[in-house]
Amino acid sequence: MKPGMSLIRHYLQFKDLRAEEYVYLFERAAIIKRRFKNYEKYQPLVDRTLAMIFEKASTRTRVSFEAGMYQMGGSVVNLTSGDSQLGRSEPIEDTARVISRMVDIVMIRTFEQSKLEGFAAHSRVPVINGLTNEYHPCQILADLFTYIEHRGQGQGEADALASLRGRTVAWVGDGNNMANTWLQAADTLGFTLHISTPSGYELDPKLAGVTNAACVKVFGNPLDACRGAHLVTTDVWTSMGYEAENEARKKAFARWCVSREMMAVAQPDALFMHCLPAHRGEEVEAEVIDGPQSVVWDEAENRMHVQKALMEYLLLGRIG
Ligand code: CP
Ligand code: NVA
Repeated sequence: MKPGMSLIRHYLQFKDLRAEEYVYLFERAAIIKRRFKNYEKYQPLVDRTLAMIFEKASTRTRVSFEAGMYQMGGSVVNLTSGDSQLGRSEPIEDTARVISRMVDIVMIRTFEQSKLEGFAAHSRVPVINGLTNEYHPCQILADLFTYIEHRGQGQGEADALASLRGRTVAWVGDGNNMANTWLQAADTLGFTLHISTPSGYELDPKLAGVTNAACVKVFGNPLDACRGAHLVTTDVWTSMGYEAENEARKKAFARWCVSREMMAVAQPDALFMHCLPAHRGEEVEAEVIDGPQSVVWDEAENRMHVQKALMEYLLLGRIG
């Protein structure tokens, strides 16, 4: 980006975009996915470069951003803390100043949200959150798109909001980055989040900056959280960066395993989602994640399609 171009949009948390922008992104993601499936070349980002910085492990985020950027005609640079000066204490702000003079867009997976924000504050180009301790907005973008694909109402993607409003999403497990982001999504898009976490692992609605307190309902028993839900979802008991707590978490989370019984009290056509990687027999029974209500593989694939739409939007604005 040329110096002086000040209107940079970042995507650091879910609430950085408005409801109508999500409607637009879902429409674009559907178009971009259709073209991909039909082997139609679509390369609006020729000569654009994406830098990816991974301070934590990844399979889906790495492949979906990298493949997506190449498919759109651009190129990709991949950095980790281990193979860059970030691992030798170069300040994140200096890294941002340098990298953003050379590339057009940056995706970062790191620990504290404040680190991502520090980078964005010194970047000349859009920055995307590829997961922090606090949020994982690209994943929820993909999850919502997947829900609309499977259970959307109406003729077109413009009905996206109507497909989500009034629905109930049940979150079973840790009050982590995924849970915080689901909460922001419920607040932004008008659905309800039922949440059940073990004691000591609760979600903090203040962190998510929720404006409508009615969008979240807390349940002690995970079975109650799943009652009547249109979507049941969970995540690992121990997120990246919290490995030292693994044994304590295994004990605390034993009852927070999405079971066939939980799916049975949800809506008859309820979907199951998991951002992956999954641990069968811990946070979800194999019969659920590998069962007919599970859409986890579509959910994973859709990371690529929604992120292509997101990069197109952040770099080119609205098309047409
Ligand atoms: N769901 C997700 O972000 O997967 P990765 O950790 O493999 O990128
Ligand atoms: N909550 C998990 C998500 C992994 C994609 C983590 O942060 O490790």
